[in-house]
Amino acid sequence: MKALILSGGKGSRLYPLTYTNAKQLIPVANKPVLFRVIEAVRDAGITEIGIVIGNDENGRRVQDAVGQGRRWGVDITYIPQDAPLGLAHCVAIAQDFLGSERFVMFLGDNVIEGGISNLIRGFEQSDYDCQIVLKEVEEPQHYGVAELNPDRSIKRLVEKPREPRSNLALVGIYMFNEHVHEAVRQITPSWRGELEITDAIQWLVEQGLNVHPYIHRGWWIDTGKPIDMLAANSKVLEELTPEVQGFVDRSSDVDERVTVEAGAEIVNSVVRGPTIIGENTRIANSYVGPFTSIYHDCVVENAEIEHSLILEHSSIVDVPARITDSLIGRNVELSHSQLKPRALKLTLGDNSRLGLI
Ligand code: DAU
Repeated sequence: MKALILSGGKGSRLYPLTYTNAKQLIPVANKPVLFRVIEAVRDAGITEIGIVIGNDENGRRVQDAVGQGRRWGVDITYIPQDAPLGLAHCVAIAQDFLGSERFVMFLGDNVIEGGISNLIRGFEQSDYDCQIVLKEVEEPQHYGVAELNPDRSIKRLVEKPREPRSNLALVGIYMFNEHVHEAVRQITPSWRGELEITDAIQWLVEQGLNVHPYIHRGWWIDTGKPIDMLAANSKVLEELTPEVQGFVDRSSDVDERVTVEAGAEIVNSVVRGPTIIGENTRIANSYVGPFTSIYHDCVVENAEIEHSLILEHSSIVDVPARITDSLIGRNVELSHSQLKPRALKLTLGDNSRLGLI
């Protein structure tokens, strides 16, 4: 089996972070979501992976970060997409790579508990033409939604319906055989101008092909919005096996659910897990609370932070208020100025959000 990972798209719901980075490269628990997807595919025994990337700066960033896949023992082929014309469009442009083999398509911004090995094994051993993964959610209108018949077969699939007929959302993991290629040729763009994979699967159902709905019981997060990034970060942090490779001084209080990566140092600080402190990051005279990931080469000094994500090379120094529920990008400097007049001095990117007290 092959895998097709989708890592194009605009990521506009994560502006401003995604002006200068692909959303799939934003780390949760200090590892880009896309790397977690590649690892899940590799752990399921698949080594031939196609990655759809935008034909733009973000696409080049993905290529630079992932490379040819040697690090994971997989072989990666890049498939550039000129514009984000939909998930089914991705299948269409990947046809040369996919051939007539069975494959799994995995959205590069989805994080799922427990990996996909069982799903892949189940599909390989079945005669299903397609397997979709469903999860009960509270706000199904934001997703593709499946309506099932009393015998649990699929009645109808609708993309982001205003009035959802069930609470079963389509998870961003799909398994197909060669019939999907005909399906993506048969559909037309939706109201949002995209070729929807949901419509392609609906077409398979209407042709009487065997589309199997698998109901996922663990957690699943589509990291589309900042709040979802924080939720995914918390879930993955809870699953990490903590390890201390960096330095913790005697006057610090660091509990057993904290991971301290190589070259990091924690001085005179309190750190409560689950939390991860990245490589070469310095925490001094500070409090870092649960569900926080601080990426590499950051500084947190005389500050308090919890339930937050801080990306690389950022510094938070002498900040008088506790920072919580925050997503802080790369190379950000947050500090306390002694200069007069006493005022807030801000340089915020487009679409930034700041909650002042
Ligand atoms: O996350 C699950 C949901 O993903 C499903 O419930 C929906 O049925 C499905 O349509 C999809 O909805 P989203 O609106 O969340 O899709 P999004 O535009 O965020 O794209 C998902 C991933 O695919 C993301 O990593 C970007 C990539 N992508 C997207 C498009 C539209 C591409 O590579 N090319 C594209 O043309």
